[in-house]
Order: sequence, then C-alpha cells, then structure tokens
Amino acid sequence: MNESTFAPGGGQPGLVQQHTAGRSGEDEVRTFDARQQPGYTGTATSHEHAGSEPVTARYDSEVYDAAAFDAIEPGLAQSNLIEGQFYDPDAEYEPDPEYAATLAPDAARQRRERVGPTGRPLPYFPIPSPLTEHGPAQIVAMCNQKGGVGKTTSTINLGAALAEYGRRVLLVDFDPQGALSVGLGVNPMELDLTVYNLLMERGLTADEVLLKTAVPGMDLLPSNIDLSAAEVQLVSEVARESALARALKPLLPDYDYVIIDCQPSLGLLTVNALTAANSVIVPLECEFFALRGVALLTETIEKVCERLNPELRLDGILATMYDSRTVHSREVLARVTEAFGEHVFHTVIGRTVRFPETTVAGEPITTYASNSVGAAAYRQLAREVLARCPVE
Ligand SMILES: Nc1ncnc2c1ncn2[C@@H]1O[C@H](COP(=O)(O)OP(=O)(O)O)[C@@H](O)[C@H]1O
Ligand SMILES: [Mg+2]
Repeated sequence: MNESTFAPGGGQPGLVQQHTAGRSGEDEVRTFDARQQPGYTGTATSHEHAGSEPVTARYDSEVYDAAAFDAIEPGLAQSNLIEGQFYDPDAEYEPDPEYAATLAPDAARQRRERVGPTGRPLPYFPIPSPLTEHGPAQIVAMCNQKGGVGKTTSTINLGAALAEYGRRVLLVDFDPQGALSVGLGVNPMELDLTVYNLLMERGLTADEVLLKTAVPGMDLLPSNIDLSAAEVQLVSEVARESALARALKPLLPDYDYVIIDCQPSLGLLTVNALTAANSVIVPLECEFFALRGVALLTETIEKVCERLNPELRLDGILATMYDSRTVHSREVLARVTEAFGEHVFHTVIGRTVRFPETTVAGEPITTYASNSVGAAAYRQLAREVLARCPVE
C-alpha cells in the first residue's frame, strides 16, 4: 500500500499537495485546489488506501480534518500534520460530524475529545453557510482600556475573516489615533470627512464618510485626530452617550457585522461604543498584569448595561499574543480561563511578527499572509463568533 501525505502546496493560498511515494521511490505529487467551495473546503480522493475502493477525505485549507483521514487509514492523520495549516499544532479539530458519518460509519464514534489551548474541549466550529440576505447588523465593540492588547489587529482581521465567509462588515475606527484606518492603508491626515463629522454634523450621511477597503464586502468609517474633539464637545450634548448609536442606525440594514475599534480609555467615546453595541469582545494580552484593569472594564460594561443599554452582553475574552512555548503565557491563559470560564473564546491568537508586518502593508493578515497561522486563527475566531451568535 502506498503512503500519501497532504501538505499546503503550490505556493498559493488554498492549494493542497498530495505526495505519494511512487514505485520508483520518487514522490508523485498531485495538487488540489482547496478553494472550490466557499470556506476553502474540498475533497481529496485517494486510491491508495483501504483496498481497491477509492476513499474520499475532506480537507480544508485551514482545518485539517484528522478524523476524515483516519477514516482512510488509522494513524494517517497523525503522520500527516500540516505544519502551518493548523492554528495550533497541539490541538486537533473536531471534524464535521455529518461529513465524517458519510465517510465511514464508525468515524464519528472514533472521535476522541480534543482539548484546546484554553484547557477546555475544543468544539467544532462549522464553516458558515453563505447568506442570501444581509442585515440587520450585530454591533461588536472591541474594547480594553489598555493599549497594545490587540484591539485594532483583532478588529481588522476578525472583520476580514467574516467578510471572507460572505458577511458584510463595517469597521468603525473610534480611536483618534486612527490606527485602524492606517492598518487598512488609509492616511488619516488626508481625510476631510471622518466618523467625527458623522457624530457632530446633522444632515451628513454615512455614505459621504464611508470608505471601501481592499477586502470585498468590508467597509470602513475612518477617523483621525479630529475625533479627540468629540470627547469634549459631546459632553454638553443631550443624550451624549448615544451619539454613535444614532449615527450607525441607518447603516445597520446594509451589514451583518459592525465592529467598533475603541480607543484605549474608558471615556465618553468608549461609553458611546458600548451604548451602540450588542456585545463586547475584550482582547487580553497573555502577559503579566493582563487581568489588571479588567475589573474596571467589566464594571463599566455593567454600568452601561444598567443605565444605557440593557441588551449589552460580554461576547468574549479573546486571548492574544499567546506563546504556547512559554510557561508564562500558558499560566496567564489558565488564569484568564479560571476567572472568566465560558466567556473566554476557545480561539486563542498566537504571537507572531506577521501582525506588525501587516500594519506596514496596510492590509489584513488574511490577504497579506493568507496561509499563515495568524490568518487561520482569525478565521477560526470568525467561525466561533458566528457559532456563538448566528445572525438570523
Ligand atoms: N498576535 C500578535 N502577535 C504579535 N504582535 C501583535 C499581535 N497582535 C497585535 N500585535 C502587535 O502589537 C501592537 C499592538 O496591537 P494593536 O492591535 O494595535 O493593539 P491595540 O489596538 O489594543 O492598541 C501592534 O504593533 C500589533 O501589530
Ligand atoms: Mg488600537
């Protein structure tokens, strides 16, 4: 029986190579396109295994369906881990139970429980089905009053991954620093109209401020230093906490997700974001003192919930800049999971220099380094977010 291995290949996103040891001792290589279907999935048929019957296994450009390959031949998956295609090589993914059942009646039963980086069993996050209609949008505030924890990076890349899955996404730069705008290749200093104008000027429509990004289906409300004036000017306004909610309202029917990149403070701008939002994602850097300040943040969320926005919920704590090789990182993640339990996303974002590189490139990691571990992590986060709160 010939052995086949599967690896990302062809030097292009979505291509998978099957290597088979040929009779002459040389590798035969076949390349598949893993992007025949939305969500980059496809099937590979192997004639080399399980006797004379051709066997089909599902592969996915980001999730290696170990059980599907094991259904071909026990142990095959283990010997063919695709480096770099896994978000976390220590964690294997649950296969799609329905699919596994079509491969082999026993495959689903043979599944063992897999533990993710947060120490909990890792659920299967299905590839979301395409939408035929869009809106009304869920509004997510990306919030932590600490700077440098990955708010802007998570806004760009979660947004881009949701857009890849066919969701219409609007990103709102709500930090006068304009880092989100810069990260998408926009020079904030050259903008005449920003989210500031949308907040302060009646009669201005969002269309005049909106920018298309290079990612299909993802738009941006940019900002620049002008926004810092809003913090002061809004103080004397009636319903000053709901200025952003009012500004976003006409846009909601056109999008599935609005993600607000908050500034690193708990001031009036952040309160506006929390008032507009349905849910909050809190990125936490896996570092010493990560939890310091989180009590103040959850208190603020609770206050907004009581007084301004009873619908607001904590969607999740997102561990970022995780390094599985350091005991320290693992300890911090264990403490975060201990403190927040099911509120912690199963998806954890690893530390990689690829993220700072994307800022310079002015594009999301999903396009800048489509096959990278970082891109796979944000795609998994997108699937987890969609699995947690599907948009009806
Ligand atoms: N997972 C990561 N691994 C390595 N560097 C990261 C990661 N996430 C973000 N960074 C980098 O850390 C810095 C701060 O991230 P950023 O998203 O701007 O945080 P915030 O918006 O909370 O201030 C940026 O230079 C960014 O490129
Ligand atoms: Mg930021």
